[in-house]
Amino acid sequence: MSLNSDPTLAIDFGTSNSLVGAFVNGERIAALEIDPFASDKTMMRTLLYFPHADLCYYGSEALSKYISEDMEGRLFRSFKSHLPTQSYLGTIIDNRILTLENMIGTFLLELKKRAEAKLGIKVNKAVIGRPAKYSMDPVADEVALMRMKKAAAFAGFTEVEFIAEPLAAAFDYRKQIKDEKLILIGDFGGGTSDFTVIKLHPNKFSKKDVLSIDGCPLAGDALDSIFMSHKLNKNFGAGSVYRMPFSTNILKMPQSIMQRLNHPAHIVHLKEKDTYEFIKEVRKCALLDSDKDAIDKLFLMIEDQQIFSFFEKIESTKKNLSSNADFNFKFEYPGLETNETFSQKQFVDWSAGVKEKIFQSLDSCLASAQVTYDQIDLVCLTGGTAHVPFIKKEFENRFGLDRLQTQSHFHSVLSGLIESAAFWSEGLI
Ligand SMILES: Nc1ncnc2c1ncn2[C@@H]1O[C@H](COP(=O)(O)OP(=O)(O)OP(=O)(O)O)[C@@H](O)[C@H]1O
Ligand SMILES: [Mg+2]
Repeated sequence: MSLNSDPTLAIDFGTSNSLVGAFVNGERIAALEIDPFASDKTMMRTLLYFPHADLCYYGSEALSKYISEDMEGRLFRSFKSHLPTQSYLGTIIDNRILTLENMIGTFLLELKKRAEAKLGIKVNKAVIGRPAKYSMDPVADEVALMRMKKAAAFAGFTEVEFIAEPLAAAFDYRKQIKDEKLILIGDFGGGTSDFTVIKLHPNKFSKKDVLSIDGCPLAGDALDSIFMSHKLNKNFGAGSVYRMPFSTNILKMPQSIMQRLNHPAHIVHLKEKDTYEFIKEVRKCALLDSDKDAIDKLFLMIEDQQIFSFFEKIESTKKNLSSNADFNFKFEYPGLETNETFSQKQFVDWSAGVKEKIFQSLDSCLASAQVTYDQIDLVCLTGGTAHVPFIKKEFENRFGLDRLQTQSHFHSVLSGLIESAAFWSEGLI
């Protein structure tokens, strides 16, 4: 790889939040203020809002404009998680096709422009974070990376290096290391849970120090889904049974529809014509009046653009359960009124399957590093989902409190990507 002394942006393109820093003339430039309307101006929510095909808003402004425009138009969140889905090509806005690559490219271009405005220079090189695994399927994982490369090219970057996000978090931690230590990093974000086992020491970084990188595409959004799949989706026709004309078979609302309904990234796609028409058929042929009413609620949620707000309430309930034993979920939109109290215990029980898969990928990360739990000197946790008590508790059980540290939940990947840009300039990566 060529030595790289040109200015470089460091971009943490997250499923929920994105941050940008830079490495310019040998100087590390920490998180830039890219979202003037956010409470933390250095962190932009990964949101796009198109009131129509020719206009787009980003981050906090996407949200405020969406509300002030009476939720007309299209708001996209969690679109990073579509990257490995080969069947997901993109969307249509006002009869115009917007491919996923162009959607992400549009977002990256805005990050680039805002960072350039802050730095006062043009920057065509970037170090961009990537999860350990976009998907457990290696082909889909490769597809996701190819699409990110296209998106980065769309945004005008001519040279791009992708760095695994947990590795970046390790580079951040490395800045404070005095003696050699074997470290496990866990980065729990919105879309993915990522791990690395790495030898950290104060000498020059060498690729050989990285013993393994692994992870899985389950994190904060998957935990939000749990509130839908275990309880709330029943209010929207999840269990509906129906019988098609001239058939004796009693059918249940298909899993594929349910999966869309349950997931914050996928639910907006219920709007797509074929799916929407199919649900209408189910409504027509539903055997129970209560199912018809529930499907009507689903249509109301879609038609009145309440999906985003509903999932915001779910996310806020989940966050509140990180510090409260129970929390009341209250949604007051006329016709969609919902009032449910969720307990932390319920949340833990319902999350067992997701937790198991996340920790299986931790186990395989240690196994491929050929390291036992005892050999790890220190465990560092980062990312918003590291706030979830049962995640922290599981690490406590496996490693003990003494070996556990928490890094800045939202800035450590970015900080490490800036370090990576410095390593790139020295030809170390
Ligand atoms: N107090 C909290 N309790 C539980 N979850 C939280 C809390 N605070 C934030 N989160 C969750 O953290 C996630 C966002 O974290 P983060 O910003 O690290 O993700 P990201 O970097 O955008 O995603 P990724 O790295 O997976 O692409 C969201 O799912 C959010 O709901
Ligand atoms: Mg992240």
